[in-house]
Amino acid sequence: MTKSLIVYFSQGGTTTKVAESIAAGLGGATHQVNLCNLKAEQPPTLDGYDLLGIGLPVYIFRPPFKVMDYLNGLPELAGLPVFVFVLYGTYRGDAGSTVRRALAGKGGREAGFFCARGADYFLGYLKRGYLFSPDCPTAEELNAAEAFGREVAARLAGQEYVKPNEDGPPSGIYRLERFLTNRWFVRHVYSRLFRVKAAKCTACGLCMKLCPTRNITEDREGRPQWGRDCLLCLYCEMKCPTEAIVSPVSWPIFYPFMAYNVRRASQDSSLDHARVTWSKGRVSRERP
Ligand SMILES: Cc1cc2nc3c(=O)[nH]c(=O)nc-3n(C[C@H](O)[C@H](O)[C@H](O)COP(=O)(O)O)c2cc1C
Repeated sequence: MTKSLIVYFSQGGTTTKVAESIAAGLGGATHQVNLCNLKAEQPPTLDGYDLLGIGLPVYIFRPPFKVMDYLNGLPELAGLPVFVFVLYGTYRGDAGSTVRRALAGKGGREAGFFCARGADYFLGYLKRGYLFSPDCPTAEELNAAEAFGREVAARLAGQEYVKPNEDGPPSGIYRLERFLTNRWFVRHVYSRLFRVKAAKCTACGLCMKLCPTRNITEDREGRPQWGRDCLLCLYCEMKCPTEAIVSPVSWPIFYPFMAYNVRRASQDSSLDHARVTWSKGRVSRERP
């Protein structure tokens, strides 16, 4: 029996869907696949596994910090076959290459690399009325993910694998956005600057439940307070039913970047988008 472990991070569920499709492709009577979403679970050790898959959404042109923490904590892989899959809403930059290099640096032997688009619930875009790649991953992409799983299984059985080229870095302005939201800034600046509007907060606790790093705790009044372990996913602000949370990414200093990103992506004929309204923690599609 071959045993595979797929460790991925998913907030919105699109990476989960692709992970499940890959698992279906890999699986069979003689192949057991275990899935672990870093959002909620602690991954097991790699003892007894013959294959490791890593899945991630692109977050501001990089892998989410939580995925990098997992990779950095891995032991030496000593030739263990590995594969990577990436979900992204507009432009993925070199997030996948970063993960591929990290696994190679640990001694993993690459057996596949796969990308698909996923509905982009980035608050900066939703606030401007845009949901990019709204219906992704499509049925076609999920079929491709399943086929990818079958290909990886065949490679494990000895079929040759030609590594795809690495993705190039994102263009200048996106690199600047990535720099301005790097881990140092998030830890030392932005994570200290989340605010809750006391008059609007009902202390419902939803933001605390949703936070994938358990970075939000209650203050004495039951309202949220933020620690330093923030991923800048902005789900706390996005899902707040009373719009009581304001993150630094909603400050006017970021407006030109958001406006540029939305303009560029909405004019890109290779990208789909839906017009949406974001209100009270909900995203509703406008009628076409
Ligand atoms: C905080 C945040 C940052 C994101 N940054 C990017 C990005 O830089 N490039 C991109 O193409 N998509 C970006 N996305 C879109 C996600 O990568 C995409 O929607 C993915 O499918 C989400 O995966 P999930 O549904 O499993 O959480 C971002 C989404 C969020 C929430």
